[in-house]
Amino acid sequence: MQPHTEAKHAILKSYLGAWFPILSRAKTKRILYIDAFAGPGRYKGDEQGSPIIALEVARDHILNLPCEIVFWFIESRSDRYDNLVSEIGQIQHTLPKNLKILHECCEFDESVTRALDGIENSEKALAPALVFIDPFGFSDTPMSTIQRIMSNKKSEVLITFMTRDIDRFKSRPELASTFDRLFGTDEWSKAFDMHNQSGRIDFLRELYRTQLEKVAGVKYARAFDMLDQNDSPIYSLFHGTNSVKGLLEMKTAFWKIDETGSYRFSDRTIKGQSRLFGSDLAPLKTVLTTQLNNGMHLIDELDRFVVVETPYLPKHLNCVLRELEGSNPPGIKVECTGSRRRHCYPRQKASGLKTRIQFI
Ligand SMILES: C[S@@+](CC[C@H](N)C(=O)[O-])C[C@H]1O[C@@H](n2cnc3c(N)ncnc32)[C@H](O)[C@@H]1O
Repeated sequence: MQPHTEAKHAILKSYLGAWFPILSRAKTKRILYIDAFAGPGRYKGDEQGSPIIALEVARDHILNLPCEIVFWFIESRSDRYDNLVSEIGQIQHTLPKNLKILHECCEFDESVTRALDGIENSEKALAPALVFIDPFGFSDTPMSTIQRIMSNKKSEVLITFMTRDIDRFKSRPELASTFDRLFGTDEWSKAFDMHNQSGRIDFLRELYRTQLEKVAGVKYARAFDMLDQNDSPIYSLFHGTNSVKGLLEMKTAFWKIDETGSYRFSDRTIKGQSRLFGSDLAPLKTVLTTQLNNGMHLIDELDRFVVVETPYLPKHLNCVLRELEGSNPPGIKVECTGSRRRHCYPRQKASGLKTRIQFI
């Protein structure tokens, strides 16, 4: 298993640890986790594959997960599928009764389309689902299917978007319709006019992100880039959600892997050949003090602004506020409806207090 695959699994594990309790405690009876390109369940070096990681996260969660969690594993290659079934068999007896497992040796698009058609025909709705779409290539993940998955506003997607291969194969005429379906538009062909590879990859990644928003109806789409030994992009891991809480948890998972906040992991970094500087909070300070210098802001609203509009997290906001409060003269004015300690900014949800901040 390559280091960037480990990084991908660490992100998945971290996010599922948050997603299962968030959704299972909402008023839903059943949630669905679909690993749509499931793989064999175990790698040659004995590392766990994504289906086993997901089952173990749900099984070992310290909180009680009250609803039914349905795991649906899809794998098209029969030898890998057989191995997966055998791996599942080895842990099945350890799983609580509310975890249900379905598995199918099938193609993702065919299988999910059939299921969605069935749900639609019976006038039912898809349960809130997290769909992990982790192909080797790009030919079986049409935007129209992602749009149907996201028609349940509580559903989410985690997609491996193969930037390098898409760039490499884009000029093959026989793949034009595949790319049209992948992006849900033919605008990807504008990449032909770009001579610089990193510019093309940025363009393709950004086009995919905007299509997730425009066509699939995703409110918040963020990507984390995986790079090879030469620091060249291999793929981007896209997360799509309509929930600010989901976005916050995924960004938290991304920051655990890349403490610089660049949202990237390089196989080169692992060898200590590349950069690791820690996070630079100066851009956040600039955004806050220049864009929000218009009166008092509730701290909870600042949290939301930071999560939705910047790459940072609320913990970074706290750091910037502490620095500004401690400077001479102070760079912020703080009002709170109860007593608070200096350098602490109580959130209403946690404390019942209203804390307002003014950037001076
Ligand atoms: C990148 S691997 C998945 C790895 C796995 N998600 C993990 O992290 O352990 C992609 C898998 O998808 C399978 N596959 C390829 N095309 C597929 C399709 N159209 N539908 C379902 N599975 C497919 C491949 O055989 C392969 O095992």
